[in-house]
Amino acid sequence: MTQTQWQLDGGLGLDHLAQKPCHPIDPGPDEVRVRMTALSLNFRDTLIVHGMYGGKQPLPLTPLSDGAGVVEAVGENVRDLKVGDRVSGVFHQGWQAGPPDRERLSHALGAGETPGLASYWRVFPALGLVKTPDYLSDLEAATLPCAALTAWAALVEDCPAKPGECVLIEGTGGVSIFALQIAHAMGLRTLITSSSDEKLERARALGADETINYKTNPQWSKNVRDLTDGRGVDHVIEVGGAGTLEQALRSIRIGGRIASIGVLSGIKTDLTLPLLFMQHAHIQGISVGSRDMQINMNRFFSHHQIRPVLDERTFSYPELPQSYQHMISRKHFGKIAISID
Ligand SMILES: NC(=O)c1ccc[n+]([C@@H]2O[C@H](COP(=O)([O-])OP(=O)(O)OC[C@H]3O[C@@H](n4cnc5c(N)ncnc54)[C@H](OP(=O)(O)O)[C@@H]3O)[C@@H](O)[C@H]2O)c1
Repeated sequence: MTQTQWQLDGGLGLDHLAQKPCHPIDPGPDEVRVRMTALSLNFRDTLIVHGMYGGKQPLPLTPLSDGAGVVEAVGENVRDLKVGDRVSGVFHQGWQAGPPDRERLSHALGAGETPGLASYWRVFPALGLVKTPDYLSDLEAATLPCAALTAWAALVEDCPAKPGECVLIEGTGGVSIFALQIAHAMGLRTLITSSSDEKLERARALGADETINYKTNPQWSKNVRDLTDGRGVDHVIEVGGAGTLEQALRSIRIGGRIASIGVLSGIKTDLTLPLLFMQHAHIQGISVGSRDMQINMNRFFSHHQIRPVLDERTFSYPELPQSYQHMISRKHFGKIAISID
């Protein structure tokens, strides 16, 4: 059987995603060849395939930032990994540690000049990988590099929440469910919003303390205030963007924090600016995280035995375009994963 990689070629849109033959390449001295076994999808991937992610992407482009697999060959200088190790990719291939800078943020997988992981084989710099925690399957591990690390950065590394605090999480997509799991393990009080009462029930089963349907309560900051004795929350996981930022600002306590992450409801907003200073708001932009942060997160996940919540529908490798359609339909809960075997 010929092995393949997926490529976006000849134009934008799911119709231009096609499988092309691929072959194993020998790794260079500091590199590792991984036999990919699992992938996962992020909202970003749907933007990229439709040409809505930053500047124009050079085509052909191998999509997807997130995946896991098994080391198949290592270069002569590689010491920390060996054949047979289970590994996951690092979202920012050039950001190992320390604060972000332009160079560190310019090699994100699956966009621009950095091919993604939707491929049977992928050669990585050894520092572009982390070991997969033993207790996780490859499918579970494949969901961590972007969404989980973003939630981790938004609650722990870049915008730390403190013990006893209350955090509001928007929606039940990939980042948000990881944020719920991490916040719950940290002992924080959690409020979560969704357009679906059924999804809110599932969020409660994962530990959410309070739930709000944002469709039936478009001014949901009022519900947040009611649920916090008028005070507001300490911290918001802001994935909605244009349609939610004002409600998020109205939801925080004076001096509260907003981890600005996503643009699910649009990228441009008419913000009532006095809200920013009247609320003494702290807004922290998040851009996933570094390899060091991913290692810290994996340690935390292992300690708390946190298992990623996989959507009830998992896809096979040839069904990649269908997995995108499932994400676009917003019927999913948690992470959409794709098995390569
Ligand atoms: N800055 C970063 O580093 C970073 C990293 C990862 C992701 N992101 C961004 O974060 C966002 C979430 O990514 P994801 O991969 O988690 O997406 P996702 O899994 O596709 O999330 C989809 C869910 O978001 C919820 N949602 C949609 N519109 C909403 C709204 N107006 N208010 C509240 N919730 C809403 C819905 O939840 P319900 O079905 O429950 O209503 C929907 O099912 C995206 O914009 C993505 O680009 C940014």
